[in-house]
Amino acid sequence: MAGLVVMARTALVTGSSRGIGRGIALKLAECGVRQIGVHFQKNRPAAEETAHLLRECGAEPLLVQADSMRPDDISRMFVELRSAFGSLDVFVANARPDVQHFYQPVLELTAEHWRSAIDSQATALLHCAREAVGMMGQGGRIVAVTYAPGGTTGSWRSWAAMGPAKAAMESLLRYLAWDLAKHGITANAVSPGATDDSVFSTLPPEVLDALRGWAGAGWVPMGRLTTPADVGDAVALLCSEQARFITGQTLHVDGGASLASADFPMEFQRGG
Ligand SMILES: NC(=O)c1ccc[n+]([C@@H]2O[C@H](COP(=O)([O-])OP(=O)(O)OC[C@H]3O[C@@H](n4cnc5c(N)ncnc54)[C@H](OP(=O)(O)O)[C@@H]3O)[C@@H](O)[C@H]2O)c1
Repeated sequence: MAGLVVMARTALVTGSSRGIGRGIALKLAECGVRQIGVHFQKNRPAAEETAHLLRECGAEPLLVQADSMRPDDISRMFVELRSAFGSLDVFVANARPDVQHFYQPVLELTAEHWRSAIDSQATALLHCAREAVGMMGQGGRIVAVTYAPGGTTGSWRSWAAMGPAKAAMESLLRYLAWDLAKHGITANAVSPGATDDSVFSTLPPEVLDALRGWAGAGWVPMGRLTTPADVGDAVALLCSEQARFITGQTLHVDGGASLASADFPMEFQRGG
C-alpha cells in the first residue's frame, strides 16, 4: 500500500504554542500541510518558537491569539484565518486552560472552575467547529484532543470539571460527525495517555520520574509515556485521505494504557 496522503493545504491547531499542540502542528507540516495557524492564548514567545520549527519544515505559520473561553475572540481569530488562508482543510481542537482555572476536587469546584472547563472544551468546540466548517470544502477534517478516561472514571479527583467537559466534547463530536458526513467532513477525537513534554513538564522532576516509572512497570504495555509526536502521528493519520471513512470515533494513543484493568494486580495482567 502506498504511503499516507494528507491532501490538506491549510490547518489550525489550537494551543499549538507548546506541548501536544506543537507536536501535532509539526507532524502536519511534515505531512505537507503548508499554511498552519499556530494558536496561543498568552505565551507569544512559545508560539513564535513553534512557528520557527514549522518554517524549518517548509510550512508557513500564522500566529493567531484567542482565549477559547471567549466566543468573540474565536470569531476574530477565524476572521484573521479566513483573510490569510481563504479556506481551511483541518481544524484541531487541542487548547486547554492552565490547571489553576479548573483543577479541583468535586466538592471544592466553584462555578468559575466549572465554566472554564466546559467553556474551553465543549462550548469552544461548538463555536470553532461552526466557524471552521464555514471555511471547509468537501473532505475537511475536525480532530479534538480529549482525555477519554476522565469521562468514564472518577478517581482522578481534581479532574472533576475537566472529565465531564471532555466527555461533552466527545459527545458533541459525534453529532458533528453525523451532520458533516454529507460533506465528506470527518470529526474524530484522539485520546493521548499521560504525555511527556506537555503540561506534565511543569511537574516536579520526582513526580515526572514516578509517572515514567509507572508506565515502565507495565501500566502502559508499550512501557513508556506518550509523546507529542505520537499524538501528531495519530492526528495526521485521521487527516489522511485513507481515513476518509472514519468518523465519530475516539482513538486512544496511549501505548495500550487504556487496556489495563484496575481489578487485578499488574503481575496477573502481565501474565507472570
Ligand atoms: N498532557 C497530557 O498528558 C494529556 C493527556 C491527554 C490529553 N491531553 C489533552 O491534550 C491537550 C494539550 O495538553 P498539553 O498538556 O499539551 O497542554 P499545555 O502544554 O498545558 O498547553 C496548553 C495550550 O493551550 C493554550 N491555552 C491555555 N489557556 C487557554 C485559553 N484560555 N484559551 C486558549 N488557549 C489556551 C496554551 O496557550 P499559551 O501557551 O498561550 O498559554 C497552550 O498552547 C489538552 O486538551 C489536554 O487536555 C493532555
